Amino acid sequence: MNEEQKITHFKEVMGNYPTGVTVITATAPDGSPVGMTVNSFASVSLDPMLILWSIDKRVSLYDIFTNAKKFAVHVLAGDQGELCALFASRGIDRFENCEWEMSEDGVPVIKGAAGVLHCSLHTTVGGGDHRIIIGEVKKIDNHRKDPLLYHRRKFNAIPDSFHE
Ligand SMILES: Cc1cc2nc3c(=O)[nH]c(=O)nc-3n(C[C@H](O)[C@H](O)[C@H](O)COP(=O)(O)O)c2cc1C
Repeated sequence: MNEEQKITHFKEVMGNYPTGVTVITATAPDGSPVGMTVNSFASVSLDPMLILWSIDKRVSLYDIFTNAKKFAVHVLAGDQGELCALFASRGIDRFENCEWEMSEDGVPVIKGAAGVLHCSLHTTVGGGDHRIIIGEVKKIDNHRKDPLLYHRRKFNAIPDSFHE
């Protein structure tokens, strides 16, 4: 297998690993809200309560997110497919096109998520062409909605067969 084929297989195998979808938000140094769609999110530790996600070095918000002292992870609900696309798209004002408010501690919170983890930056770790951001969970909003699922570049609500 040559390098090109290896990359194709890597993308196919990883794309065949279903995930949820999050939108991660923070506030830029100039006070403006920033956010992006992320599915590299995972839990890390219970004590202390840590989560991680990774950011591509080419993302325009890279410097802001790797330096943000606080950020919020929104686990998207099944009916938030449009929000998932909005926060991954270019040339459109993301926060002009969704409902959100600033939290008490100055982080943008988008309405309608299944759950929100309010985090402080714990550490960042190098990870090739990405950087891994580890956050400590400080506060949790648990809205107990069904999640949005992502698989092979498509997103959808959870199938009925998952319900009891
Ligand atoms: C479902 C989905 C998951 C994504 N996950 C990540 C991720 O984990 N890390 C990342 O850096 N970009 C991820 N992206 C891409 C970013 O959302 C996208 O590159 C970014 O919002 C572009 O921002 P920019 O135009 O400001 O550079 C994902 C996109 C989608 C649609």
